[in-house]
Amino acid sequence: MSQVTIESVLQEERVFEPPAELAAGARIGSMAAYRELVERIEADPDAFWGEQAREQLHWFEPFHTVLDWSNPPFARWFEGGTTNLAYNCLDRHLDGPRAEKTALIWEGEPGDSRHFTYRDLHGEVCRAANALKALGIGKGDLVALYMPMVPEAAIAMLACARIGAPHSVVFGGFSAEALRDRLIDGGVKAVITADGGFRKDKPVALKPAVDRALADGACPTVEHVLVVRRTEQPTAMEPGRDRWWHELVEVQSADCPAEPMASEDRLFVLYTSGSTGKPKGVVHTTAGYNLWAHLTFQWIFDLRDDDVHWCTADVGWITGHSYIVYGPLSNGATTVMYEGAPRPSKPGAFWEVIEKHKVTLFYTAPTAIRAFMKSGREVPDHYDMSTLRILGTVGEPINPEAWMWYREVIGHGRCPIIDTWWQTETGGVMISPLPGATPTKPGSATLPLPGIAADVVDNEGHSVGVDEGGYLAVRRPWPGMMRTVHGDPERFRRSYWEHITGDDGRPLYFAGDGARRDADGYYWVMGRVDDVISVSGHRLGSMEIESALVSHPAVAEAAVVGRPDDLKGEGIVAFVTLQAGVDGSEALGVELRRHVGTEIGPIARPDEIRFSDALPKTRSGKIMRRILRALAAGEEVSGDTSTLEDRSVLDALRV
Ligand code: WTA
Repeated sequence: MSQVTIESVLQEERVFEPPAELAAGARIGSMAAYRELVERIEADPDAFWGEQAREQLHWFEPFHTVLDWSNPPFARWFEGGTTNLAYNCLDRHLDGPRAEKTALIWEGEPGDSRHFTYRDLHGEVCRAANALKALGIGKGDLVALYMPMVPEAAIAMLACARIGAPHSVVFGGFSAEALRDRLIDGGVKAVITADGGFRKDKPVALKPAVDRALADGACPTVEHVLVVRRTEQPTAMEPGRDRWWHELVEVQSADCPAEPMASEDRLFVLYTSGSTGKPKGVVHTTAGYNLWAHLTFQWIFDLRDDDVHWCTADVGWITGHSYIVYGPLSNGATTVMYEGAPRPSKPGAFWEVIEKHKVTLFYTAPTAIRAFMKSGREVPDHYDMSTLRILGTVGEPINPEAWMWYREVIGHGRCPIIDTWWQTETGGVMISPLPGATPTKPGSATLPLPGIAADVVDNEGHSVGVDEGGYLAVRRPWPGMMRTVHGDPERFRRSYWEHITGDDGRPLYFAGDGARRDADGYYWVMGRVDDVISVSGHRLGSMEIESALVSHPAVAEAAVVGRPDDLKGEGIVAFVTLQAGVDGSEALGVELRRHVGTEIGPIARPDEIRFSDALPKTRSGKIMRRILRALAAGEEVSGDTSTLEDRSVLDALRV
């Protein structure tokens, strides 16, 4: 673990109180109410989670034990109970007037849109679930989704949950190679995809990447490919393996009972990058995840029945899972899904969606906000966004300038900004203001949600003092926590639970982020302390990119680091040594960037490739990334370099 250093950030000293009108009607409407709730939970956490699970979810069979933590880090929540996420998201809303409420508003990039009431969505999900059954897919079979942002992505996720087939959603921006790795690792039985999707005003094909991933029998477990028609591009279909969604799904019955699932039955796998090795398949299970997505969505957005919520993430990431699909639908809310992104032909695309669909809750990433700032306030000023109530951000630290701009220009000073810290592993938000209660400070995620035993600690697990840097950790299990790494429980233990042990001998959850806490107990998340790079909020492991680079025949060795980037948060710099006889040229740099794009996906392409004769290493052969990070950022190399094996390497790299 590298040591956390506190970088100087521009401090905006003002504190913003929750708007009185919002606080007046809020679920948690004051700091006193927040503290009271925290104290109530601390007195008996299991009693609180048990009560919430009983009240907020539907159970086929009640659970008998709230939490079994007898074998840490493997937690078991709500044992003995059976429930179903799709039932909680759909069926239980069909009894009253909510059946006719809009569940999902989908906006296509070319301007086409679709609305689904809860009743409509229930029917679509049942049909899709029956289609999966018709293909022989049942409880426990892993189904991969490689989809554009179309309603069928959400429908397919819910259909899998309905029949108890865990899903593994792979972001549509990943390459065929990255998809193949995830299909093999998971032992996936079926893939749901589309002919393509619209991106920057053009249809972009998706299905050919699935064909490449499956070519030459590379994924022997994959028996079926179900293809949604979106762009109507000519699409090759392999007989016996590939079926059109519209042909198979539309003929199915709209009646498909939800499968009662044990609380700890696997719900989904979602791959995310760590500091070492290949991406990990993060496993979430049924009841705990459902409760956490449900409760956090209610809390952080102070949900009201007439809210229209829009989260701009892709369903390929955890944010899309928890806050486009499961959190909103479990609460019976209206959720918006948008296929597109702001683009030169439509810089105001986001604001147009907000105006058109009267969005009240908006949730996006700091990178997007910084891009909007760059194109000026004239763009958003053109739209009526007076319906907005609460503005959220997620995925990376938000700089105070972007925070203030979001508040002033998008929220006109009316809407609380909620900066939410969490991870794929945590299932849902962990540290965030509650909009009716928490005074906010630009750049701070403020306080842990009630029941979350977060802390900032040193290597020994002791809480650090006010304004001292340390590691962000969680001392106690919570319902939405990941349960294991798919196929590798030891890696789960090693990656998250072996770094720090608490005074009581219990392991602490190590998040991989550095943070400090100020005198008010507010958390300031500083970014990763490991070799994970966050590009526009997308997590990438240095080692993944290095492996992609060394798989190119010209490359001998590669070391990849992040460097601060005004827009993307971090950019990628690769230091590369070449095989004997190969010269570094601009053309080779272009070629290597393209190669990384093919191996992982365009988001992983290095911004800069620096060729060098050698990399700075310790005498034991370890690459000194600290030095490379400083060099990449154009900073002086400070600190101890005495362990460097060959000092002349440093001079050569300093150009
Ligand atoms: C970072 C995304 C600062 C952090 C939900 C974390 C943040 C990683 C914030 C998880 C925030 C997320 N402030 N940093 N509000 N939210 N992060 O798994 O480094 O894609 O460890 O989950 O994003 O990324 P992931």
